[in-house]
Amino acid sequence: MKSPKNYIEQHKQRFIDELISLLKIPSVSADPHYKKEVLLTAEEVKNRLQEAGCDTVEVCETPGYPIVYGEKIIDKNLPTVLVYGHYDVQPPDPIDLWNSPPFEPVIQKTELHPEGAIFARGACDDKGQMYMHVKAMEFMTKNEALPCNVKFMIEGEEEVGSESLEWFLSRNQEKLSNDVILISDTGMISKDAPSITTGLRGLSYVEVEVTGPNRDLHSGLYGGAVANPINILTQMIAQLTNENNHITIPGFYDQVEDLSQDERAKMAEAPFNLENYQKAIGIKNVHGEATYTTNERNSIRPTLDVNGIWGGYTGEGAKTVIPSKAYAKISMRLVPNQDWKEITQLFKNHFESLAPDSVKVEVKPHHGGQAYVTPIDGIEYQAADKAFQETFGKSAIPQRSGGSIPIVSMFEKNLGSKTILMGFGLDTDAIHSPNEHFGIWNYLKGIETIPYFYQHFTDLFQNNK
Ligand code: BES
Ligand code: MN
Ligand code: MN
Repeated sequence: MKSPKNYIEQHKQRFIDELISLLKIPSVSADPHYKKEVLLTAEEVKNRLQEAGCDTVEVCETPGYPIVYGEKIIDKNLPTVLVYGHYDVQPPDPIDLWNSPPFEPVIQKTELHPEGAIFARGACDDKGQMYMHVKAMEFMTKNEALPCNVKFMIEGEEEVGSESLEWFLSRNQEKLSNDVILISDTGMISKDAPSITTGLRGLSYVEVEVTGPNRDLHSGLYGGAVANPINILTQMIAQLTNENNHITIPGFYDQVEDLSQDERAKMAEAPFNLENYQKAIGIKNVHGEATYTTNERNSIRPTLDVNGIWGGYTGEGAKTVIPSKAYAKISMRLVPNQDWKEITQLFKNHFESLAPDSVKVEVKPHHGGQAYVTPIDGIEYQAADKAFQETFGKSAIPQRSGGSIPIVSMFEKNLGSKTILMGFGLDTDAIHSPNEHFGIWNYLKGIETIPYFYQHFTDLFQNNK
C-alpha cells in the first residue's frame, strides 16, 4: 500500500479544520437542552462520511438519538470492517475550570503535545478519534487504497449508556454483519508506546435515595431524635468497603477471576511511572485495594465509587435543617464474568439491608454493561499490531483498560464479532474533565495507522480462508 504520509501532509490543515468545525457543535447527549445540536451533529457526520467516499449513508432513527450509518462495499468476497464510534460528548461542566470555552476549540502546545493539541469537549472522546477513521477512509478511497468493505456505525448515546444500541443491533443484524469491529475510543500508553486495549471493564450504575422524615425539619427542634438521611446515607456508603478497600457486598467477588502470577508479572512490564502518575493529577499518594498495584487496581479489579452525593441545604450561607431526603449516584466497574444485572441486584439487596428502620431506602438501577477481553492470538490483533509496527516502528503493548464501552460485549453477543481497540488518546488528555484535548500528532498518527490495519487485516483474512 502507498504510504498515507504524503496525502496527510498535503491535507492536514483541512483535516484539523474539519475536526474543529465538528467540535463546535455541542452534542451533549445527557442534557435534553442540546437535543437540536445532537441531531445536527448526526447530520454533519453523515455528510462527512459521504464526502469521504461511502456509497450509502443514512441517519437511522432509534427510540433515542439516531445512529449514523455509512458503507462502501467493493466486493462481497472480501472481508468487512465495521467502524464504531460516537458523536455525542460528555457535559462540559464544570465550565469555570476550562481555560477556553469547551465548544470553541483552540490549539495550544503542552508539554506532552509540543506540536499542539486541540482543546474542546469531545476532542479526544470521541469526535477526534472517530474522525480519524473518516479521514483514513478519505485517504483510502481517493488513493485506490481501500482493500476491503467498510461499514461505519457512529452513535449518539454512548456517554449515556447506549440505550438504543441493542434495539438497533437486533433489528439490523444483516446490515451490520462484519468480520471485525474497529474502534478508536480508548488510549495509548504514550506517544512512543503504542498499545492495543485488550480489556474493558463492565459497569453497573445506580442511584440511591434515602428518605427520613416526610418534610425538612428544624435541626434544633428535631436534631438528635430523628434520623438525618444524609448522616445515614454516608454511614451506609462507608460500610460498602472495608479497611483493605475491599468491597463488602456479599457475593460481589464470586465470579471474579484471579489472574495468574504469570499474567500479573506480564502486566507489570508495561511502562508505568508512579511518581508521574501522582504528579499529573496532583496527589501525594495513591489509594486502593490492598495487595494490588495501581495498574491492577484500575484494570483487572472491580471497584465501587460514589460519583455524586447531594441533599439538604447547599446554597449560600447557613440553613439549619434536617433534610427529608439524601441521594447518591454510585458506579461499580466490573471485570470479566461479573454479570452487571446480577451485581446490580446484589448491591440493591445489600444496600437495603444496611438501612436502619428510621429511614426508607430506594435503589434505582441506571445503565450497565459487561466487561470485555480481546484474545491476542486472533488475526485482528495481529493486523493491528502490524499496523502499529508500520507507523511507530515497534510492536504494540497489550493493555487492559479500566474504562467501559458496554457495546463491545453486546457486539460479540449480537453479531458474533470480535472488536479491536486501537486508541490514540493519552491518559492526560483529560477526557470527561475540563480542558479535554487531543494531540494533533496523535490525530494525524491515527489517520496514518488505520489504513495499514485494513491492509493487514485483509491479507491475514484471505490467507486464513
Ligand atoms: N471512551 C470512553 C471509554 C474509555 C476511555 C475506555 C478510555 C478506555 C479508555 C467512553 O466514552 C466512556 O466514557 N464510557 C463510559 C461508560 C458509559 C456507559 C457511560 C465510562 O467508561 O464511564
Ligand atoms: Mn468514548
Ligand atoms: Mn466518554
